[in-house]
Amino acid sequence: MQMHLAKTKEELSADCARWLINFVADTLATQDRFTLVLSGGSTPKTLYTLLATENFRSQIDWGKVHFFWGDERYVPFQDERNNAKMAFDSLLDHVPIIKDQVHVMRTDIDPVESALEYDELLRRYFQGHEFTFDLVLLGLGDDAHTLSLFPGYPLVHEKIKWVDSFFYEAQEMHRITLTPPVVIQARRVAFLVSGGDKAAAVYHTIASEHDPDLYPAQIIQPFHNEAYWFCDEAAAADL
Ligand code: 6PG
Repeated sequence: MQMHLAKTKEELSADCARWLINFVADTLATQDRFTLVLSGGSTPKTLYTLLATENFRSQIDWGKVHFFWGDERYVPFQDERNNAKMAFDSLLDHVPIIKDQVHVMRTDIDPVESALEYDELLRRYFQGHEFTFDLVLLGLGDDAHTLSLFPGYPLVHEKIKWVDSFFYEAQEMHRITLTPPVVIQARRVAFLVSGGDKAAAVYHTIASEHDPDLYPAQIIQPFHNEAYWFCDEAAAADL
């Protein structure tokens, strides 16, 4: 595990943006595409907004980046809660992306069908490759969930499917989410965590005895690389 500590969410986002820019450039020196998984939630919004600013925007070869999502709330794209909409509003509408390389988890078809379609897309994309994604950006909930892997839900133990959907009672909505097997085969994963309300979750994910039913984010132990953590001081306070 590699921990990057910052004072505030803004500093954390700037550190992560610089790290991301270097990683994208290094990767594109040896291959012609960079596959990036975006996460939902409020923390990455600051990072996305920063990446869209003049200074940072020009440092990424956006035409070679292929975008995916870690999870999606099954609400229409226009709904403010939609993770893809947040990424378009804060980043993708402001940088020269190639539309065909942006792969949203669809919420305009049945969730089961949508998950299946995404699973098939990913298997086509990564067939014959040693790794899946180059980078998976991850958030962490105060209950130690990541992606839509929530405490007590069996999906945390999924071994076969790469994408699945289920009804999340607490929010009375369906979720579509990547599962552990596809995420742990990524080249890198990076958790972005900010705020004192996440301190216990950060501590348990990193330092508590392995119990992914209680702390689902523990299941994300990459095969090939270390997990990178970007935390502000408040989020790392219990470590
Ligand atoms: C979602 C997420 C989720 C998120 C964490 C952290 O759609 O809800 O993708 O896994 O990343 O809940 O969210 P915050 O950054 O808003 O705390």
